[in-house]
Amino acid sequence: MLETNMTVSELALRAKKELASNFGVESTLVAVAPGRVNLIGEHIDYCDGFVLPLAIERYVGIAARPNDSQTARVTSTGESTIEIDLSRAQEIADPKWSNYLRGVIRGFQDLEYKLPGFDASIVSSVPLGAGLSSSAALECAFATLLEDLVDTVLSKATKAFLAQKAEHDFAGVPCGIMDQFASTFGMEDQLILIDCRTSEPEMVPFSDPSISIIVANTKVSHDLSDGGYRTRRKETEEGLALAGKESWRDVTMEDVYAAQEKMGDRIFRRSRHVVTEIARTAQVVEAFKSGDFSNIGSLMEGSHLSLRDDFEVSCDELDLMVALAKEIGFEDGVLGARMTGGGFGGSTITLCCSINAEAIARQMHDRYLAQTGIEPLLFITRPAAGAHLA
Ligand code: GLA
Repeated sequence: MLETNMTVSELALRAKKELASNFGVESTLVAVAPGRVNLIGEHIDYCDGFVLPLAIERYVGIAARPNDSQTARVTSTGESTIEIDLSRAQEIADPKWSNYLRGVIRGFQDLEYKLPGFDASIVSSVPLGAGLSSSAALECAFATLLEDLVDTVLSKATKAFLAQKAEHDFAGVPCGIMDQFASTFGMEDQLILIDCRTSEPEMVPFSDPSISIIVANTKVSHDLSDGGYRTRRKETEEGLALAGKESWRDVTMEDVYAAQEKMGDRIFRRSRHVVTEIARTAQVVEAFKSGDFSNIGSLMEGSHLSLRDDFEVSCDELDLMVALAKEIGFEDGVLGARMTGGGFGGSTITLCCSINAEAIARQMHDRYLAQTGIEPLLFITRPAAGAHLA
């Protein structure tokens, strides 16, 4: 199905209605934060690399109202209400999803903020398990809500690091900083180039209305807490040590070839991915800065193949979705396609001419459905605004 995106005001309204129906109160504030896709620079945020994500027009929205107690009562669509005692330092607890919230609360507690009790209802238009950072969107929306409740404004970077720590300590995913940075720093018409060595973001304009992005969720569920992500991280650490450098940014392909024998095949291929992906990302940034997109298709394809063959985080369905976009081709408006996010399932992105976007998305949908029997979810997006009060 080709889905249209709900606007932020529609989502905020939905959250307010949920709060009213769950707790019988009117909200005093609504916070929203977006999911993200990554244009290029995959699995290198934890390698001091460059990544180029954008916030998408899909959000988590939370409506809330203080409740004169020391308890947070929170509902989320399809889940039972949770109660969190705010007078205690938060620890991991059941249900599993509540840990994203507990982790963020813990972050505020560690900063010595005293949180007032509140009732809150969460709604979301970010598909779950689709590699679109629904968890970062939840963490960042919730952190934005808590900021307002304690009457403070954290810097975007501080908020992103706080959310990342929640993901590490409470959800058990040793993620890099890309998703939370994209969710807090997102801006309309801008890509976010993050130098993950310095944690400095730089906005790269994506303002040409004639280019759009199709997000295609293969519906093959992606779960980064099951080990593959952690293993890749360890392997890159091993590769770096064998290359004899402190940072991947100082490693060249010559260094990797020189260490090839010591590395063995698997670590060699992981290392080759890191070094070549950093280079491809820099080239894509140049393409956007110069407006010359002639090599963007091959850079995106190179990234996908490297993730498939060297980093081994793709899967048949992602490969198929990328192949389907390629099959439609440049003549019919496709500029490039690749898997996006952590992989092992999840979504692809297709960069395309806006006038062809709907037709391309429909063809990808129909061909994918015909070949796999799985109904994919596709939508078109442009870079969207980051976390804010709605
Ligand atoms: C997940 C992680 C990010 C990043 C990507 C892969 O989304 O949360 O930090 O490592 O995978 O690029």
